[in-house]
This record gives sequence, C-alpha cells and structure tokens, in this order.
Amino acid sequence: MKEQRTLIIIKPDALQRNLLGEIITRFERKGLKIIGLKMIQLEDALLDEHYCHHKGKPFFESLKNFMKSAPVVVMALSGLNAISAVRLIAGATKGYEADAGTIRGDFSISGQANIVHASDSPENAENEIRRFFKDNELFNYNRADFDFVYGEEERGE
Ligand code: CMP
Repeated sequence: MKEQRTLIIIKPDALQRNLLGEIITRFERKGLKIIGLKMIQLEDALLDEHYCHHKGKPFFESLKNFMKSAPVVVMALSGLNAISAVRLIAGATKGYEADAGTIRGDFSISGQANIVHASDSPENAENEIRRFFKDNELFNYNRADFDFVYGEEERGE
C-alpha cells in the first residue's frame, strides 16, 4: 500500500464561517486518517517560509494578512495516495473555478479566501508536515474501520 502523508491548513475564513467541523468531517469520511491536529496563530516567519514561492507576487502581503487574521487549524492526514485524494476533495485553488462537491467549490467564491491549503507533492507534504508539527504531535494508530476502508491487497494481506 502506497501510504502518503499530507498537510491541510484550514484557513481563517473557514474558522470565521463555522466550517471547521464540516471540513474535518469530509476528510474523515473519505477514510483518511488524522495523524495530527491543532489550532495555531500564524505569524510572519512561518508564512514567509510556507509561501516563499509566492514572494514578490502582487497578492503576497494580502495573503499573509489574511492568513494572520484569525487562528488556523493544521491537520496532517495519511492514507493511500493521500496527496492527490486530498487535493481532489479540496478542489481547484480558486473557489469560483472549483467543481461543485469539492470543499472550495461548495464553500468559496474567492481566489484568496479558499478555505483550505493542501500539499501538492510528496516532497512538499513532508516539508510542510515538519514545518507545522513536532514529532511528538504526530500519532501512529490503527483506525478501527481499516479493513473496510481498504481492500485486502491494499492492506498488505
Ligand atoms: P493555497 O493553496 O494556500 O496556496 C497559495 C495561496 O495564495 C492560495 O491558496 C490562495 O489563498 C492565495 N492566492 C492564490 N492566487 C491568488 C490571487 N490571485 N489573489 C489572491 N490570493 C491568491
């Protein structure tokens, strides 16, 4: 089984709009395992690192102000092909372009206030998990529904 880990940031707009439970539920119901979960207040140093590839873009300062405007919830998830599975659930970056049925398609009509961030590659996922979680904040446990979430071969039996 090609287990992957990935990082989600549930952004200030989701918190302000009372969508935290709805967002977490969507990933839980998919069968993804929550291996880390906490609320934090983002600050410049972490945002400069996390969004370094957007530095210099016209929306960079506004993006940082938005991400600092309220706490965020960071969540590490694991599962089979978790990175692409999570990105499909999140939907296209801009809410007004995202398919209905995705998180952004259902709850966002903005390019910036797009409810969640999701890692886009295995390398970025591992870097982002390390950026937001200490080792002792990540948990390894068996989900009780494992045998029904995955098929026999996927379970390695
Ligand atoms: P995210 O997936 O966190 O990655 C970068 C973020 O920048 C993106 O989601 C949006 O919140 C924001 N973003 C991307 N493009 C724009 C834009 N054109 N204007 C404002 N914000 C943007």
